[in-house]
Amino acid sequence: MDRMITVNVELGERAYPIHIGADLIGQTALFAPHIAGSSVTIVTNTTVDPLYGDTLRAALAPLGKLVSTVVLPDGEAHKNLGTLNLIFDALLGSRADRKTTLIALGGGVIGDMTGFAAACYMRGVPFIQVPTTLLSQVDSSVGGKTGINHPLGKNMIGAFYQPQAVIADIGALRTLPARELAAGVAEVIKTGAIADADFFTWIEANIEALNRCEPGALTEAVKRSCEIKASVVAKDEREGGLRAILNFGHTFGHAIEAGLGYGEWLHGEAVGCGMAMAADLSVRMGYLDDAARRRLVDVIIAAHLPTKAPALGERRYVELMQVDKKAEAGAIKFILLKRFGETLITQAPDAEVHATLAAAV
Ligand SMILES: NC(=O)c1ccc[n+]([C@@H]2O[C@H](COP(=O)([O-])OP(=O)(O)OC[C@H]3O[C@@H](n4cnc5c(N)ncnc54)[C@H](O)[C@@H]3O)[C@@H](O)[C@H]2O)c1
Repeated sequence: MDRMITVNVELGERAYPIHIGADLIGQTALFAPHIAGSSVTIVTNTTVDPLYGDTLRAALAPLGKLVSTVVLPDGEAHKNLGTLNLIFDALLGSRADRKTTLIALGGGVIGDMTGFAAACYMRGVPFIQVPTTLLSQVDSSVGGKTGINHPLGKNMIGAFYQPQAVIADIGALRTLPARELAAGVAEVIKTGAIADADFFTWIEANIEALNRCEPGALTEAVKRSCEIKASVVAKDEREGGLRAILNFGHTFGHAIEAGLGYGEWLHGEAVGCGMAMAADLSVRMGYLDDAARRRLVDVIIAAHLPTKAPALGERRYVELMQVDKKAEAGAIKFILLKRFGETLITQAPDAEVHATLAAAV
């Protein structure tokens, strides 16, 4: 096995390891300690199963478990109750019991749905995350947020439910489309910006290596992002306060995604643009100096992410931000930057918000 790094998420009896390295999906030894029962159900989709399904099934074979696979349709549009029910149909159909382990093999959509299915099936069965997109390796597979979309809101139905382990195979990113890779880099940039000035400087220096999908750079980016997310989650598992800083760029970003219709821009693209907007607002409110904003915008551009917002109209942006999960009684909460590594969460005067929206399009 090539060099593998393990980051631990310290959550007491719910603590778990995140293994990061190349070609981990085929490593039987990484799965063995986390599968207690006699059966395993792999949940994946029509894109990822042909790429990595056989490698995972071969890795599980020596364990002598009953292994079944549920192949779901691909896409955010399928992250809903109907698709979730396909997982329950398969589990009940195969008489899966309380010790059956679910394995999520795919990006954030598969990870969120499988985690939620694991939280619900028989009131909770173990699950393992095998994230295969950069976004899911640096963000969605870590921290225990699981769920599905409702026609009236994204990720509105869900649960906090931690996996037994996360196995992040950097090698799987070789087949990822460039646009999906860039969307994951957006979350890496976000993590550096909010939590670690040195990591942000490292990202600036290594952005081309990340764009080229170089394994060494990807391993470092996933490791550092997971360490930071794990430490934030360990301090605030259920988003009572601190965890909200992970939503830097997401208030504007969610408005872009919802306003354009989900799927038009990738989540990471909206977050990229949303970070540029949040940095602009941070400068207007006197928290951040403009040179730091420029550095952030430059690295977002270098990652091939958009920084110019779609023209939805200022009123529409405000309406959409008011229904954001962070808003309280309609008052919008912004995560702003003071400097790299330091954030604050605050409301903002209408005039400044409108100025940012006007400047962004
Ligand atoms: N739970 C959380 O904390 C959290 C955090 C951020 C985002 N999310 C959720 O994550 C989802 C987005 O995740 P995503 O960006 O991974 O999208 P995704 O799961 O839709 O994956 C993107 C595309 O890449 C394909 N794919 C996956 N792995 C591949 C590979 N190795 N090679 C080729 N193609 C591959 C997928 O089939 C899909 O078509 C959203 O639903 C979002 O709400 C959750």
